[in-house]
Amino acid sequence: MPAADSPTLTESDFVVVANRLPVDLERLPDGTTRWKRSPGGLVTALEPILRTHRGAWVGWAGVADADLDPIVDDDLVMHPVPLSAQEIADYYEGFSNATLWPLYHDVIVRPEYHREWWNAYVEVNRRFAEAAAKAAAQGATVWIQDYQLQLVPKMLRMLRPDLTIGFFLHIPFPPVELFMQMPWRTEIVDGLLGADLIGFHLPGGAQNFLYLARRLAGHQTSRGNVGVRSKLGVVQVGFRTVRVGAFPISIASGELDEQSRRKSIRDRAKQIRKELGNPKRIMLGVDRLDYTKGIDVRLDALHELIAEGRVDPSETVMVQLATPSRERVESYIHMRGEIEKMVSRINGEYAEVGRPVVHYIHRPVPRDELIAFFV
Ligand code: F6P
Repeated sequence: MPAADSPTLTESDFVVVANRLPVDLERLPDGTTRWKRSPGGLVTALEPILRTHRGAWVGWAGVADADLDPIVDDDLVMHPVPLSAQEIADYYEGFSNATLWPLYHDVIVRPEYHREWWNAYVEVNRRFAEAAAKAAAQGATVWIQDYQLQLVPKMLRMLRPDLTIGFFLHIPFPPVELFMQMPWRTEIVDGLLGADLIGFHLPGGAQNFLYLARRLAGHQTSRGNVGVRSKLGVVQVGFRTVRVGAFPISIASGELDEQSRRKSIRDRAKQIRKELGNPKRIMLGVDRLDYTKGIDVRLDALHELIAEGRVDPSETVMVQLATPSRERVESYIHMRGEIEKMVSRINGEYAEVGRPVVHYIHRPVPRDELIAFFV
């Protein structure tokens, strides 16, 4: 992918800011590098929109200490934000994925609170805000994504009051009682209120946020009925009005449906079925290897169903595609061990030679191959 050589290419009317770029830089053992698609639903959901809007994307390239120039790929300009190895440990693995992630997912795992992680979060959010301020043209719309960047709306507004700023949270926003555990709760609510429009997946998340904006940050709010496609809630922040609502996001299903009808994909789907031994029933799980996805519960259920004789292992196969994710975060290391033990247990008890019950793939699966699995 070529680096952007013209300065005009680096100022856009529509800018997405997300922790990751839609592509990750990969360093290979022989010292060379290559770009690969980033993991996760955010990229799958947003990339098609941005490519049709000829926008810019500000994000991290997925490796430590990469000081890269802007990259142009078709009509999309990507602005890499560098992170040091220490920042990856404190801001990404730490505050984002061992504090916020478990807190926002109902404390399935106990969140950890460390001052140095918070400091790194503030510092890195500032860097993203500065990069977005540079990438945006006068009066542009900037759309900030997800829990890793909740301070960016306010920081960016201070740098660039001319911009229209949106924020969308791709994960649940927690109940007030859980959010109140967080030592830096007021800073986060204030940070988000820098946006003109704050979007959540579900009305419950928007209601939780409106309550906090009133009780914690002391703003006047009108709650309205914050439902899907219904009235938006409003927070009055000084002279500014911040709108809050629920906007459930999905993948570009039409495009995927179209791709799934291609002959090559249909043929591959048939081949996969054959390779699995043409079983009567195939159960498919496709997830990042994450404790919020319920892979362990699914495996437990399968084990129980087989043990009770309600599922016949000679005619049923489960395929679990599990993309490696956040592999240095303690809770993910632990979960992977548990899941792999369960896979071995089911296969140990019920598989035949050459016919495993659970096919477990722990590596990224190319997009076309993935579509074939769904066909
Ligand atoms: O929506 C949750 C999310 O964290 C996204 O922000 C991200 O694209 C995806 O999951 C994958 O996570 P990560 O970037 O930590 O690999």
